[in-house]
Formats: sequence, structure tokens, C-alpha cells
Amino acid sequence: MPTLTQNELKRLVAHAALDYVAPGEVLGVGTGSTVDMLIDQLPEIRDRIPACVSSSERSTKRLEALGFKVLDLNAVDSIGVYIDGADEIDPGFSMIKGGGGALTREKIVASAAKKFVCIADASKKVDVLGRFPLPVEVIPMAAGVVRRRLEALGAQVKLRDFVTDNGCRILDAAGLRINDPKGLEAVINAWPGVVTVGLFAERGADVLLLGTADGVKTFTR
Ligand code: 5RP
Repeated sequence: MPTLTQNELKRLVAHAALDYVAPGEVLGVGTGSTVDMLIDQLPEIRDRIPACVSSSERSTKRLEALGFKVLDLNAVDSIGVYIDGADEIDPGFSMIKGGGGALTREKIVASAAKKFVCIADASKKVDVLGRFPLPVEVIPMAAGVVRRRLEALGAQVKLRDFVTDNGCRILDAAGLRINDPKGLEAVINAWPGVVTVGLFAERGADVLLLGTADGVKTFTR
């Protein structure tokens, strides 16, 4: 196989994810450049998808432009599969997410899905999470206190120049070596003012479709 660019790998894994969409089930749709490629290929299986639930305004716009029905999560009883990218994924299927700033809605939609399929290019697979700065969405007035608590854990923290779909802010915490993703997720989520930490460990992925130089590799939990 010729050497593929990162974008070509993303398109390849996004296409492989179409096989996980069962006919008649509401589809949960994540956010990001890999998911954009998924959305662009969804018309191929339009007949299987009665409606979607989206994790961001960005994905909603893209889905609606292609004629897909996007429902409010409160109008839906169950989601068959949730498909989303990741900034990092470890061997236990825990992830860092939120590079695109949609972590809170992503975590909510993922929690409602029977299955989480992660689509990622090979650069996202790591042994230990933390090389990618950990996003933490906060209520704006809590940015300072949460920043200090992250710094006390050893992180270098930056306030992202970005307002989330929820009207909140994001702190990006670099330099954490995350050996216990579930434990750290629980700790940070418990701090007052934290809306969501971008660690997806309690509800990690069930399937990883990884775009590699040798094609799509499938890993199942
Ligand atoms: C958005 C996310 C994305 O899934 C993550 O940032 C990966 O994005 P991309 O597919 O563009 O590499 O968590 O909040």
C-alpha cells in the first residue's frame, strides 16, 4: 500500500466505522476532523440512519447540511453506536478527548450509547496518556481555582482562547503522566467548577479502528 497521509488515514478509519451502524438505530456522532470525514461519508448508508444525536454545533451543522435529522438527546431513548475520534488512546481503551473543545457533550452522548467506536490515526495510540495536554472544561469563574489545583498536580496549564458550546472555558493541562486514568478522572471531576475533564476512562471506547500504514486495524475491548 502506498504511504498514506494522516488525512487519508482518517478518511479510511472513518469509512470503516460505517460497518458498525446498525439499521434503524439512532447514531451518536462525535466531533473533530476525523468525524467530519465520517459525516461526509454517511450518505453512503443514509437508509440505515433514522436520526443522529450530535455532540457539537459543528457536527450538527455538517449533518444537517447533508440532510440528516439531528435530535435532542432528551428526545431519544437509546443510541446504538457512538462514533468519535480521540486525541490519545491507551491500551486499556481510555482516552484523552476535547482537543476540539466538545468534551462535555461528547461524554454525555457517549454515556447514552450501547457501543463507543473510536476512530483514530495511528499517531493517537500511546502507552500512557498525557503527552497531549488534558482539556478540562470549567465554569468561567472557576478557571483560576481549577488552574491552581491542576498546577499542584504538576501540570503546566493554559487557558484556551475559546468558549465552548456550553458557554464555558477550557484549561489545557500539559505534562501529566496519567497512569491511573479512571482515578484521575474521578478526582478532577469532583472539583467544584469543573464541568468535565477530557479523560474518557470510566466510559472508554469499546472498539478502536486505527488507521495505520498497513490499513485499518481493529482492536476490541
Ligand atoms: C473533540 C475531540 C476530538 O475527538 C479529538 O480532538 C480528535 O480530533 P481529530 O479527529 O480532529 O484529530 O475530542 O472535542
